[in-house]
Amino acid sequence: MALSGQEQSATVAESPVDLSRLDRILEEFKGVKGGVIPILQRAQDTFGYLPREALTYISRKTLIPLNQLYGVATFYTQFHLKRRGKHLVRICDGTACHVRGAPKNVDAVQKALGIGAGETTGDYMFSFEIVYCLGSCGLAPVALVDEKVYGRVGPEALVKRLEAVP
Ligand code: FES
Repeated sequence: MALSGQEQSATVAESPVDLSRLDRILEEFKGVKGGVIPILQRAQDTFGYLPREALTYISRKTLIPLNQLYGVATFYTQFHLKRRGKHLVRICDGTACHVRGAPKNVDAVQKALGIGAGETTGDYMFSFEIVYCLGSCGLAPVALVDEKVYGRVGPEALVKRLEAVP
């Protein structure tokens, strides 16, 4: 598989957002106090992120001001306002991982995917993040591809694993 998604970014259209998928969620939380976070969580589970159209729709249906929804969505790191890749690659660059070669892993992944930290490939296959300590310092350097942990991993092995991702 060719990993670099940069050149495709101009040609891949955003997925259309089927807002009717929100109706069941909004019905479930109708009149529920403190329902904002669970509604946003469920909406994000539905679309993989919180599209602007979805937030506008939620605001219209619940009468919760749009800026309040944005306030919650931007305050909590669990929420994403941009469409993310099918697979999430995270490399730890905390102290233990850093001294054991994490920067080389970061360089290799950025080169292989053609994106920087915090970005998503143009084909929406991969998003890439740098994190700071995954609590597995004994396995440093550590990387995560989706929920799979790779410990004591080097740049070549990491890129090979990304190439093997379906
Ligand atoms: S510093 Fe990387 S797992 Fe702790």
